Amino acid sequence: MTRRDAMTAAAGVSLAMAQGQRWKIGLIGNGNRGTAHLGAYVNMPEANVTALSDLESSRMAAYNTKLGGKAAQYNDWRELIKDKNVDIVAIATPNYLHPEMAIAALRAGKHVLLEKPIAIDYKLARQIQAEAKKSGRVLAIGMQRRFMARDHWVQQIVDSGAIGQVRFINIGEYRGDWSPKGSLFTDPESGRRDNWRFFQAAAGSTELEFSVHAFSQVTQLAKSPLARCVASGGTVHYKDHQTRDICQGSIDFANGVRFNYTFCLFSAGTPGNTVIVGDKGTIRYTTESGILLDMAGKKGQAPPPHTGFSGEKPEVAMYREFFAAIRESREPALNAELAIEAAKIAYAMEIATVENRVVTARDFA
Ligand SMILES: NC(=O)c1ccc[n+]([C@@H]2O[C@H](COP(=O)([O-])OP(=O)(O)OC[C@H]3O[C@@H](n4cnc5c(N)ncnc54)[C@H](O)[C@@H]3O)[C@@H](O)[C@H]2O)c1
Repeated sequence: MTRRDAMTAAAGVSLAMAQGQRWKIGLIGNGNRGTAHLGAYVNMPEANVTALSDLESSRMAAYNTKLGGKAAQYNDWRELIKDKNVDIVAIATPNYLHPEMAIAALRAGKHVLLEKPIAIDYKLARQIQAEAKKSGRVLAIGMQRRFMARDHWVQQIVDSGAIGQVRFINIGEYRGDWSPKGSLFTDPESGRRDNWRFFQAAAGSTELEFSVHAFSQVTQLAKSPLARCVASGGTVHYKDHQTRDICQGSIDFANGVRFNYTFCLFSAGTPGNTVIVGDKGTIRYTTESGILLDMAGKKGQAPPPHTGFSGEKPEVAMYREFFAAIRESREPALNAELAIEAAKIAYAMEIATVENRVVTARDFA
């Protein structure tokens, strides 16, 4: 089947749905992030959750109660993917499971909304993207920050030309430890069983698990592929974590934009900060302050008013756009390429830190 044929077939299904049928969704992974998906569905009349899958039956049961008990429940996600009463598979499981689940769902003819990060390494990410192309089904990645009002506002200011050409971006992110409610993973090397985010084999890296949202904002602002990356970091505070609790990276994009990133996992309550320097002005804000615009002779002025993405949860906006992409047989806004460009910074920081070397675009050729 060519991509065009597959998209035409998918459009048939989509047309039927547009004529009154609701989207039949199967949600794999009923943990922390699955709750945000569930929160979007219950606010969207066009979403009909027909199936749930989780290793833990109690989690499925709790979700099902919120759905009026009408969803099928599967401990084995493969059963959900086979379910004919499912058109869309949403995947909110730990990162290492993403490729196997997404590829199987696409092969079964389902559209897929896959949580970020797309995959724990670059090769697997490209495999998922290729499978989506082959299947003709729509694949979107849960990078919902692209639908957040603040990021959208900042992008509007930059796209308006107010600060001129972007030259330098500096982002610092600070938080406390990972949620203790994270589901458990058994590390194949050590046999230790603990929160999945502590393990490289399950999470990939801290940059991939957490920072990828900030990286998505940066790639949207820089509008250019990664050219060069140096990075360092380690685990200096939480001795039971394999994934870094501190890291920093310097990234050059092909068009000359420079990006500096700092992250700390043991500094709860410290505001994150963002500075975007253009050749005509600077945008700056913290997670506690509003957006400020520094222009020549005018420091700290209020930017022009924001339009769009207001008053709606980003997850609802994300699903609305995903449904529209299926209906219109087109790439979704949160497509695999966007997700890979953002994840590439995390992949590059991992290689640069572990191999103690400069990473360049050639590493991703
Ligand atoms: N977009 C965002 O802002 C955002 C925020 C948080 C998490 N996430 C992503 O969502 C995903 C899940 O994170 P989380 O915080 O919900 O983790 P979690 O541990 O709270 O939940 C994961 C769920 O998956 C289930 N699960 C594990 N293996 C399974 C399997 N083989 N079959 C079926 N279910 C299985 C677990 O039992 C658990 O209920 C991750 O990829 C994470 O990066 C995204």
